[in-house]
Amino acid sequence: MTDPSRPWWADAVFYQVYPRSFQDSNGDGVGDLDGVSARLGYLKALGVDALWLNPVMVSPMADNGYDVADPRDIDPLFGDLAAMDRLTAAAHDLGMKVTMDLVPNHTSSAHPWFQAALAAGPGSTQRRRYIFRDGAGADGAEPPNNWLSIFGGPAWTRVTEADGRPGQWYLHLFDVEQPDLNWENPEVFDDLERTLRFWLDRGVDGFRIDVAHGMAKPRDLPDMPIVKPEMLLAEMDDDPRFNDDGVHEIHRRIRRVFDDYPDAVAIGEVWVYDNEQFARYVRPDELHLGFNFRLVRAGFDAADIRDAIENSMAAVELVGATPTWTLANHDVEREPTRYGGGPVGLARAKAMALVMLALPGAVFVYNGEELGLPNADLPDEALRDPVWERSGHTRRGRDGSRVPMPWQGDAPPFGFSDTADTWLPIPPEWSALTVEKQLADPSSTLTFFRRAIEFRCQRSEFDGPTVEMLDSPAGSVVFHASGGLVCVLNAGDGAIPLPEGEVLLASGDVVDGALPPDTAAWLV
Ligand code: GLC
Repeated sequence: MTDPSRPWWADAVFYQVYPRSFQDSNGDGVGDLDGVSARLGYLKALGVDALWLNPVMVSPMADNGYDVADPRDIDPLFGDLAAMDRLTAAAHDLGMKVTMDLVPNHTSSAHPWFQAALAAGPGSTQRRRYIFRDGAGADGAEPPNNWLSIFGGPAWTRVTEADGRPGQWYLHLFDVEQPDLNWENPEVFDDLERTLRFWLDRGVDGFRIDVAHGMAKPRDLPDMPIVKPEMLLAEMDDDPRFNDDGVHEIHRRIRRVFDDYPDAVAIGEVWVYDNEQFARYVRPDELHLGFNFRLVRAGFDAADIRDAIENSMAAVELVGATPTWTLANHDVEREPTRYGGGPVGLARAKAMALVMLALPGAVFVYNGEELGLPNADLPDEALRDPVWERSGHTRRGRDGSRVPMPWQGDAPPFGFSDTADTWLPIPPEWSALTVEKQLADPSSTLTFFRRAIEFRCQRSEFDGPTVEMLDSPAGSVVFHASGGLVCVLNAGDGAIPLPEGEVLLASGDVVDGALPPDTAAWLV
């Protein structure tokens, strides 16, 4: 139940819309903003409080919009400013908030600033907006340091200067087409402030801030002590590319802009695991919320899950911030696949959804999670994620979790689009998982999610800021949320007895008071 004295986001259910894959309204095979508007009724009925839209700004789409060429306009692929305004207004009419994705660490190489930097040459003010350096070695033919790109290969690319000769190198922690900005240059913050105010003035309710532990870089750009190419989910606390102290001054400046919009929320993508280091991002004058990815990284293992919950809580308690929980997003494998695939993987995913939705704070549900979608196995030729090319075809990338939503009917594109030529192919076997079929089925994953979210929003047992772990049989996790809810997860091999109480909801069948493996239950 919502407490009016707390900010709206403090216990919100956020729903992540991957705009390319939610609903296509113009038949080009790619989802768009009018498509999202058309499906708001579905989201309202699911019970979500707020949307997070992955980037929809102008972009050549080298990394599906995380390469922004104009941060203050909508890419024609998704619509235009009027479509964004329509979506925001329609969501607000239904009582839902809309947050966008902000990409402050880098721009697209097509951004006018980067094009000007290339043209202007070494030493120019234009180059000082990015991180250009002379190369190492006698003729500057070696990259300035040993940093790797998250997507594979070196994090540096050499440019050709106006005289046609090989010249300086520029830094890109992600794709070659995503040059990192130089946050020591005051112009960079000034432009970000314009972008923030541009959208907040139009009525947007906040931002998810991409790579919020990036931005600042150590001035001398020291080598990485360990070079490990597989990233996003790797341990990065000792990595000079991220979590530089200077980043906190940037967050404080961003927060001062947000303070002019007291209802708006800033949610950072913070891949930092040390609790004290993480907590610094959510101090009262920095981000409102930070994604804590411990639950995503935990296997389906009682000790791992307990550890993820306890540490996520402990981190925010250090600074009195609000916890966040997420099991999935567009960068990771979907839960049913991650937890083993098939019926067992799905059962575990549903059990974990109950764990997540029992926890205090803000939760994030990724589109399709409520349908129990698995990762899709895509053929090589369908892959679009730059990770596939950049890794020399050794990592398949993240496309498998980005496939369009199956809405209705018996064959692709399942009402997602008018064309069967969707930007990623939808597996035909998802005919069993469509929204239409699941809405009609009281035992579907979607019905289960709707009931769970409804309880979370309406019952007072979900209120209360703390969680207490209780003793429980081996292989299980039992916690008591301070509002009164008890959540039991059985990640072991045999059935376990349920504690005293009335079962409010279970992710599988409870027989004679016993909870089977791969199942969770809520008790009041
Ligand atoms: C974040 C996004 C990811 C993107 C990367 C570069 O990690 O979630 O999808 O590729 O940043 O912007």
